[in-house]
Amino acid sequence: MIQKKLITLLLFAAITGFSQNKKNTFEVVSPDGKNKVKFELVKNAPKYAVLHGKTEVITPSDMGFLLKDNENLSTDFEIKNVQKISFNETWQQVWGEKKNIKNHYNQLSVELQQKGKNRRKLEIQFRAFNDGVAFRYVYPKQNVKDSIFIMDEKTTFNLKEDGKAWWIPAYRENRDEYLFKDAPVSTLDTVLTPLTIESKNGLAISFHEANLVDFASINLIKTKGTQLKADLVPWADGVKVRVKETFTSSWRTIQIGEKPGDLITSYLILNLNDPNKLANTSYVKPYKYFGIWWGMHIGKYSFWESDIQGATTKRAKEYMDFTAKEGFHHLLIEGWNKGWTPQWYENHMHMFSFTKSADNFDLEEVVAYGKKKNVALIGYHETGSNLINYLKEVDEGFALYKKMGMHSVKIGHVGSKLNMKEWHFGQFGVNYFRYILEKAAQYDLAVLYHESIKDTGERRTFPNMLSREAARGQEYNAWSEGNPPNHLTIIPFTRLLSGPMDFTPGIFDVEVKQGHAGKRVHGTAAQQLALYVTIYAPIQMMADLPENYEGKPALQFLKDVPTDWEDTKILEGKIGEYITTARKDRNSADWYLGTITNEKARDVNVALSFLDPNATYEAQIYADAEGTDETHNPAEIAISKKTVKASDILKLHLGGAGGTAIRFKKL
Ligand code: NOJ
Repeated sequence: MIQKKLITLLLFAAITGFSQNKKNTFEVVSPDGKNKVKFELVKNAPKYAVLHGKTEVITPSDMGFLLKDNENLSTDFEIKNVQKISFNETWQQVWGEKKNIKNHYNQLSVELQQKGKNRRKLEIQFRAFNDGVAFRYVYPKQNVKDSIFIMDEKTTFNLKEDGKAWWIPAYRENRDEYLFKDAPVSTLDTVLTPLTIESKNGLAISFHEANLVDFASINLIKTKGTQLKADLVPWADGVKVRVKETFTSSWRTIQIGEKPGDLITSYLILNLNDPNKLANTSYVKPYKYFGIWWGMHIGKYSFWESDIQGATTKRAKEYMDFTAKEGFHHLLIEGWNKGWTPQWYENHMHMFSFTKSADNFDLEEVVAYGKKKNVALIGYHETGSNLINYLKEVDEGFALYKKMGMHSVKIGHVGSKLNMKEWHFGQFGVNYFRYILEKAAQYDLAVLYHESIKDTGERRTFPNMLSREAARGQEYNAWSEGNPPNHLTIIPFTRLLSGPMDFTPGIFDVEVKQGHAGKRVHGTAAQQLALYVTIYAPIQMMADLPENYEGKPALQFLKDVPTDWEDTKILEGKIGEYITTARKDRNSADWYLGTITNEKARDVNVALSFLDPNATYEAQIYADAEGTDETHNPAEIAISKKTVKASDILKLHLGGAGGTAIRFKKL
């Protein structure tokens, strides 16, 4: 299906939204007039500032780069040309959290050239949207014929006010799989993006990047006061970016909301990516899936060949029977191949095979069995971050899946560094993840990355980029101290701003009784259901063991809840405390609601004004049973039904670490 452009496509030279105050100063304002970027060349150095209404968000901040041999690409400039355009279109997502997305901005491009020796040119493009601003650097082909080595990026973000920053650390062993903490901006060290800040000026601000191609990703370093600086993730030799002749940086994005929930319904990052490039997206479909997976994480089964190996032909067929019986169509099987050892997760150049099955597992037989049952197998490639090995075999591995008629592959990259050498987030990793994504498209495979580079919106350009992990997921509850209840009320406002997450929700047996008995999910089973709405992903796992779903009435919610939406509304949210999300199904008239709380119990009054005012709905409510919370009877879900209308207010009680999931079925 080719992406359809809808309603309007307007591209015209500047009429509104721009101004020039004095020589060397230019402004670009968002279509609603609220967000403004001011550009100025101050003593030959480019500077930018950002305002929201009258509120100064970013005071004049630095721009540019440092190249090899200490060559400064951040000063000695003069302005050669200035261009302004306005753009307004509504485009349709192949799949997503919202079907039609408005992309409306004013753009200012400033072409600069250095006056000294090399006369280097640099173009800076600014876009002002109603939901934030962004800028990027374009280094055009020019007379200086040399390879470009970027040694540092000079961009700073001088926050006018301090604020509460929700952060995770950069350059750590477990990549981005850390628990978010909150701290004043002024006390941060080096952090990953998205970095979300509740500013003292009352705004919610999030820093991230969009359309990251052949460049290093950025972390943010606190330098002085409330100044953050772009920190390009380096190659092992310290160079930040190496390119030939020309480069285009990712967009440095600053999303601005009047409340935190506005950040979630901002589509600025997607809008800054190029339209769909895939001619064929017929194989890319949202779905829900089971897996031979949680059993390995809780230690009931092993990934490797052993008496308790999870991936056997026999178990695969049993899981397929269960999947088909319950009316689902997708199954992930990990540990199906040769190369797994009990030390598979340690830093080591592991030698996984991507073509040879484990002795107990017959891939062809399993796939053929699935075909009879209408259950598709999701492929799995764990690279162990040994990309030397993977890149040798990936074509054969993908070809095997294609031959079998498979259309999805999960690809894992456990390890602190790629090839035990390069950071996942450096230019090497950025290029690797894009290379594999494009290759997968050639084999009609949709991709689910684990231990990946952060998402910068490439799903718009390559809709076969389904989902990724890139944060601390459910698995931590199976083998560590687990995720505290507030984790789930933080990630919608932080990690999830970058794109879909394969959190793997749906654990009904929240207190693990087999394998690692004593480990647990720090929340209620009703909260697990609500996550299918509060966490957006086009593919969602139902992570628990089949035996924990068997005969449970709440499984009905998992059967009903879609993973492709017409629209999304954040009804309320306080970072780290609670969130209530409503989404409309893309393929029916039904709405769904998920509300969750941190460790504190909560009474919520939900105004149902998002429903069609001319209709009546049956609310099918899956709530924490009376007296239920994280430690009291956490697995008990109370299911009830109620007839409701848009004018109603629904009163809900959430136990500590609890939640409620609702389907509003149009009558
Ligand atoms: C970590 C991934 O997050 C998880 O989903 C997978 O099961 C293991 N690695 C094994 O590859």
